[in-house]
Amino acid sequence: MQAEIGTDVGRARQWLEEGKCVGIPTETVYGLAANALDKEAVLSVFRIKNRPDFDPLILHTFSVEEARKWITQMPAKAAVLASEFWPGPLTLVLPKSPLIPFEVTSGLDTVGIRVPDHPLTLALLQQLGFPLAAPSANPFGYVSPTTAAHVSLQLGGRIPYILDGGPCRVGIESTIVGFEEDEPVILRKGMISQGMIEERIGLVKIKVHSTSNPRAPGMLLSHYAPHTPVELAGKAGAFDPQRTGYIAFAIKHPGIPVSHQEVLSSSGDLFEAARSLYAALRKLDAMDLDRIYIEFVPEDGIGSAVNDRIRRAVCKT
Ligand code: TXA
Ligand code: MG
Repeated sequence: MQAEIGTDVGRARQWLEEGKCVGIPTETVYGLAANALDKEAVLSVFRIKNRPDFDPLILHTFSVEEARKWITQMPAKAAVLASEFWPGPLTLVLPKSPLIPFEVTSGLDTVGIRVPDHPLTLALLQQLGFPLAAPSANPFGYVSPTTAAHVSLQLGGRIPYILDGGPCRVGIESTIVGFEEDEPVILRKGMISQGMIEERIGLVKIKVHSTSNPRAPGMLLSHYAPHTPVELAGKAGAFDPQRTGYIAFAIKHPGIPVSHQEVLSSSGDLFEAARSLYAALRKLDAMDLDRIYIEFVPEDGIGSAVNDRIRRAVCKT
């Protein structure tokens, strides 16, 4: 049975209350959601995604006050970020309440938590009597989904329902901020940039490049990667243009068939580039080419997060 795709929040709610997993829209990427308080439901998220059990899930809830129920402590700087950016594409890693099962956090004492900014999912969360544990709704290691159709293609055979909230407005995963002795650390880059965070709470460190950081396993270097090998554009070497895909930031490559090319933003808009990146990777991956070349985008603001995802799509370690 293939998942039903629809906009019925009540239907999504019914399945979740029965302990099933449902695809949900957020402003960043689609999530694969389950009742976070139901251990069996949480374990089925890992099975459906083929996700290793050491990679913790993100908890989704509908307000700052609600989030406080699921954590034991909110450092002052975290409270500032929560009130500034929630609902929005920011995840805070904070000490978890005993109410949250260790299945959600892969045994960690902290939980990543956020309030997503999508009207359908906020309505759903308000109706439910529990928070949702939801990683991105892709098979582990593959490109995250930014439409209901992306979710359906890969996980549609394993879940009963996908709540269709249209294409994701941000297009890349949330910024993750953790705290070391109350000092903020960016664990994953996203639309909420280092500059935006520092404007509110002062200096913040970035620790996203570790290959085996057990505290942010989703940051394994090879991640967000299509099956077709992806290489950085501009690398020397011969290639067969008929067998090559190309993802340009703003201007197409003159030597490759236009039908094999995706432009992230013809006007050079970094937000549009973030929104287009995953669909472009998926589209070219489906064309069965020998390789895909991709250009970096300018490194400022959200561009830094886009380049981070490009690096991970390229890297095969
Ligand atoms: O934008 C998003 O955050 C999307 C949407 C669906 O909300 N979710 C998402 O989830 O990207 P996922 O599972 O693909 O990434 C979750 C990552 C983990 O891989 C890990 O890096 C980090 O969040 N994380 C979760 N809990 C953590 C914790 N307690 N400590 C450190 N990192 C944690
Ligand atoms: Mg993911």
